[in-house]
Amino acid sequence: MCGIVGYVGDKNSVPILMGGLKKLEYRGYDSAGLAVFNNGKIEVIREVGNLAHLEKAVAKKEPYGNLGIGHTRWATHGRPTKENAHPHTDCKNGISIVHNGIIENFLELKKNLMGKGHIFRSETDTEVIAHLIEKHYDGDLFKAVQYAVDELEGSFALAAISRDFPDLIVVARKDSPLVIGLGDNEYFVASDIPAVLSHTKNIFILENHEMAKITPRGVWVTNFEGKEVKKDILKVKWSEEAAEKSGYEDFMLKEIYEQPKAIKETMRDKFDRNGQMLFEGMQLGEEDVCKLKKVVIIACGTSYHAGLVAKQAIEHWAKIPVEVDISSEFRYCDPILDENTLAIAITQSGETADTLAGVREAKSKGARVIGITNVLGSTITREADGVVYTHAGPEIGVAATKTLVSQMVALYIFALYLARARNTLSDKKISAITEEIKNLPDQVEKILSGNGVIKKAAKKYANCTNFLFLGRGIGLPVALEGALKLKEISYIHAEGYAAGEMKHGPIALIDDGVPAVVVATKSKVHEKILGNIQEVKARGADIIAVSSFGDTEIEKVVDYVFYIPETTEILSAILAVVPLQLFAYYMAKTRGCNVDQPKNLAKSVTVE
Ligand code: AGP
Repeated sequence: MCGIVGYVGDKNSVPILMGGLKKLEYRGYDSAGLAVFNNGKIEVIREVGNLAHLEKAVAKKEPYGNLGIGHTRWATHGRPTKENAHPHTDCKNGISIVHNGIIENFLELKKNLMGKGHIFRSETDTEVIAHLIEKHYDGDLFKAVQYAVDELEGSFALAAISRDFPDLIVVARKDSPLVIGLGDNEYFVASDIPAVLSHTKNIFILENHEMAKITPRGVWVTNFEGKEVKKDILKVKWSEEAAEKSGYEDFMLKEIYEQPKAIKETMRDKFDRNGQMLFEGMQLGEEDVCKLKKVVIIACGTSYHAGLVAKQAIEHWAKIPVEVDISSEFRYCDPILDENTLAIAITQSGETADTLAGVREAKSKGARVIGITNVLGSTITREADGVVYTHAGPEIGVAATKTLVSQMVALYIFALYLARARNTLSDKKISAITEEIKNLPDQVEKILSGNGVIKKAAKKYANCTNFLFLGRGIGLPVALEGALKLKEISYIHAEGYAAGEMKHGPIALIDDGVPAVVVATKSKVHEKILGNIQEVKARGADIIAVSSFGDTEIEKVVDYVFYIPETTEILSAILAVVPLQLFAYYMAKTRGCNVDQPKNLAKSVTVE
């Protein structure tokens, strides 16, 4: 996820662009840049790192111009370097563009354009857009953009300017957000409302397959075929701070609600055109996969729970033994690995010191290491042999939510990739599971739309001092994650436990009114978990169950039910974790906790 801005009017665009980028920095901070039209030339300034680096460069060069575009980057293709920073230009530096999204067919387009003599200077997917516009440009920038977007596959919100037009921005939108701020003879372009709010509360929201020609004289919106589209002016009522969270009270809640999109974006580059699993960045061919004797997963915290889910998926589908180790333990237990071991390091930040140390330990023992991360250019991407990216976009809340479900969906698809390579699942079975995976975003959407009972339960138990989270099978990692979420943002002591283990000691903790969350979704151990519910209920516990739609029996036994849609047992973990994220969130809010920056915690634990 990146942030784009643009301005055309009678003011100096530079402070407006910089102010807009500041408001969008939460969307990405690997690099930033701007392009300003000045005296028939386009001046481009780009810097690696967060916006402060660009601010320094701008202060030194003092660019001036009434027309400009800007960009803050969350790298998806191409490391965070100056060459890969936006804006990108065509061969003659006559056209400059900024882009948010992923161009899926960029390699094919790039090859084709290079064959026509275009010179590329970056590794990014975005640069192909500048050269495509150049290819179609015959003096009409709007038309050239129109033809260019016709060739693009994937997602994009883009803004283009040309040195031939001192007061024109052309924008286009497909699957990535774009708004146009409406001023008096001046107009503002941005990925998100916060970036324009200090200038105007009147905006156009560009819809998919819409584009616009923007000059100080007005905004002309059409569809990609050039047919004019009449837009209603939206009057924004949010404060600036609320707008940064798209109207949500906290980044964590916003990120919980972004999960359907995060799953979709993560899936986007993991299937080829024929629906086959695709892991280009991993350097692990089918031959290597067949030689594997063991998989070792190393991770911390929430990522460790993703690893526990991956273990069940890989063992069940690919029939490879998997062990999951907490990173801080792994490196001191003299692990038994060799060249036939695949080590999977799961780390959304790509910077967790314990996990990085585990990677080095695994490599020293000859294992091949792949990293699963959300941050392109993070340390893990330079230390692992191969990388699988989640495309959840920046996660601002310290508590991991959308990065977790993105890790899970990437690992599910990876488990299928291993199963296909080792021929342990039929094509029919793989296609059936793939279809269920593709349904997950809509199923998460369904859970998010019905959170009334979760809020109610949170209100009731917000003052409890102890909580149990119980699960069996695929429900156990979910229970562990639910307990961690509650602990880390509401500061309530919560314990995730194997439900079948309770009778071996912890059941002594149960007393009248002690609340227990039980993951009781449809599974081969469903009857067993119902028995465990009876065990704790008989001793006075209040029960909150996470169950599958249609399981009405359970309502007669427990105090609250958080329902989730039915899916393949192993996939149910990604759904069951969502109500528990919301439960922890509402519990913490009821207790007046700061959910985005919980005490004592950091988003990335770069120390051992
Ligand atoms: C999860 O909500 C916590 N913020 C924490 O446990 C986190 O999952 C852990 O520190 C691992 O982080 P990583 O994925 O960046 O390695």
